[in-house]
Amino acid sequence: MNIKSFPLILTMSILLIVPPCIYAQHKTIDQRVDSLLSLMTLEEKIGQMNQYSGFWEATGPITEQGNKLEQVRNGQLGSLLNITGYEHTHELQEMALQSRLKIPLLFGQDVIHGYRTQFPIPLAEAASWDLEAIELSARIAAIEAAAAGVHWTFAPMVDIGRDPRWGRVMEGAGEDPYLGSLIAAARVKGFQGKGYGNTDAVMACVKHFAAYGASESGRDYNSVDMSYRMLNEIYLRPYKAAVDAGAATVMNSFNDINGIPATANSYIQRDLLKGQWKFGGFVVSDWGSIGEMINHGYSKDCYQAAQQAITAGSDMDMESRCYIGSLAQLVKDGKADARLVDDAVRRILTKKFEMGLFDDPFKYSNKEREKQQWNNPDNLRASRDMAKKSIVLLKNEKQLLPLDTKKKTIAMIGPLVKAVRDNIGFWSYAWPDDTARIVTQFDGVKNRAGKNITLTYAKGCGISDSSKAGFAQAVKIAKQADIVILSIGEAGNMSGEAKSRSNIHLPGVQEDLVKAVCATGKPVIVLINAGRPLVFNWTADHAQAILYTWWLGTKAGEAIADVLFGDYNPSGKLPMTFPRSEGQIPIYYNHFSTGRPPKSETDVNYVSAYIDLPNSPKFPFGYGLSYTTFKYSEPVLNRSTINASEKLQVKVSITNTGNYDGKETVQLYIRDLVGSVVRPVKQLIGFQQVFLKKGETKEITFNIGVDDLKFYDNNVNLVAEPGDFEVFVGGSSATELKKTFTLL
Ligand code: BGC
Repeated sequence: MNIKSFPLILTMSILLIVPPCIYAQHKTIDQRVDSLLSLMTLEEKIGQMNQYSGFWEATGPITEQGNKLEQVRNGQLGSLLNITGYEHTHELQEMALQSRLKIPLLFGQDVIHGYRTQFPIPLAEAASWDLEAIELSARIAAIEAAAAGVHWTFAPMVDIGRDPRWGRVMEGAGEDPYLGSLIAAARVKGFQGKGYGNTDAVMACVKHFAAYGASESGRDYNSVDMSYRMLNEIYLRPYKAAVDAGAATVMNSFNDINGIPATANSYIQRDLLKGQWKFGGFVVSDWGSIGEMINHGYSKDCYQAAQQAITAGSDMDMESRCYIGSLAQLVKDGKADARLVDDAVRRILTKKFEMGLFDDPFKYSNKEREKQQWNNPDNLRASRDMAKKSIVLLKNEKQLLPLDTKKKTIAMIGPLVKAVRDNIGFWSYAWPDDTARIVTQFDGVKNRAGKNITLTYAKGCGISDSSKAGFAQAVKIAKQADIVILSIGEAGNMSGEAKSRSNIHLPGVQEDLVKAVCATGKPVIVLINAGRPLVFNWTADHAQAILYTWWLGTKAGEAIADVLFGDYNPSGKLPMTFPRSEGQIPIYYNHFSTGRPPKSETDVNYVSAYIDLPNSPKFPFGYGLSYTTFKYSEPVLNRSTINASEKLQVKVSITNTGNYDGKETVQLYIRDLVGSVVRPVKQLIGFQQVFLKKGETKEITFNIGVDDLKFYDNNVNLVAEPGDFEVFVGGSSATELKKTFTLL
């Protein structure tokens, strides 16, 4: 029965009583949504498009307090963020059910790298190149969050990051669109599990659409200006991959793209996302981004901002209150099409139905499940496993690592040795018992070292201090030790949202501390903790061993000990290029060929080079060592030409030539030698992880087809052009092992 065919009098009485069974009796979700929509007043529809932050935490500036609870009861709110836990979600949902139509609330939350069990920051996880482990990390985050009543995570963040000054690179998968797309899809699958609607899954929200990571000069919230070709070829790919993987929702971004704020960008949201990509979910604005179009100078006031945002396809307003304040008037004034409101509300209600919230609004918040997932040992084990896999070994002179447990004294020095909350990085939850449950790096090493090892400690200096007063003690214990472990880097909250840095050197006097400790002549192992690539040239050149440990989560201390003592042989590979200097930024491996490439690192003779620095980075994309060594054979191709329907087979043998079993990530790059638009010098198109026992050799095969060779031409069409290609195989983007083939 279609509610629209009801006689007026009956409809009127339904409007007054509205038993929820009216829409519950329909079979399909579409019918139920239509039925419900037909019962709603314009104000109630707009209420569904309105989202506020809760009362306990804020992740942005609160526009005004207002009486949120009253609005929940009046059906003027579709969703809340920053409300978690059985009690809070229950309480709020009960209030929503007092509203006339009893439409349940959606609870959204930034579950970025774990909920109760904190996993490594996403950039660190990306360094594992381990898609299964990354999916599992998102899976566990979803299980824990869903049990606490969260329906919807604002993740994955899939913005390509080519600029380490931008603090939000910590939330993404780095600089590469191919790796980034695979990781984006893995995270969506992890969050959504067997499908949202199951009580162990949350809806994913791909963000920040689009190109937020390209903000000029690495300054957060800044403008983006780039060709549509570049946008499609590099920046849009991970969002598309996430949408194709079934992401339920998308969040737009704070930046403007070529002069139009993403929030009001019809090309991005309507033409591409909801049009060409056939995205059926809804778009939530970023925090206040609708209202911020006034600051952009794109909207005169909230009235205009709401009109521009709805026209461009922004379905839900996070915290700007422009929709709740102006949309009804816009419709009444004929300035906004009521059908656009219906479309937005239909998209939002569809997700609420798909989540099963109309059948059981309390389906997710569950006291028992919440308890079961609290400190769940399986989750903690998975976090430790992910953490080990995320660590990147940058240097290991004279095989200083791994450490053995023979009798010795190890001095642990540095401002992060005994840090607690820093280990879990930005976008993590501060639980009251953090100090008790997060094992510091000192305790991690102490627990693993055994009784033969004497461990000493000195802080040396604070993270950003200018004082060197602690150096003397640090040098003293270094002199008394056999080996030094220095733990240095950023504070956990120095990367993340609104954490852009113009100077990405080690903060404070930390590099001076490294110098003072190295001057003792003792072997020095450095742990660098950070949410972005840092510049640390002196340390890189003088310390004997360096592990890049990012922020590894709840189990950081243990995972670091696992790697230091060789219980896990490091296998991470950098997902971002590490510059020698901020002057090289933006820096990324897949840059275009210039007309004047230098012939060598020192060639400055009217070529595209710096006169004061080599062009090359300090550490390239894809780089990372192991305690063992791997030898690559020359790649062998099964043919020298392929046509559009054929596959090229690339075979390469890898031998473990060192003294430990270990895992290598074998990377496959191509270079299109001549194109109708200039092509990158290298481009990742495949990788495989291979585990090799000491002395073992394995052959790896890659298949390249025409789709792998496609790029966007000047008319933004995806094409593959006949011609010659180089194919590279190796353990990082710096590999020179290559062969040539031709696409006919
Ligand atoms: C961030 C988003 C986040 C939102 C809600 C914004 O400031 O840009 O990534 O999801 O706040 O916390």
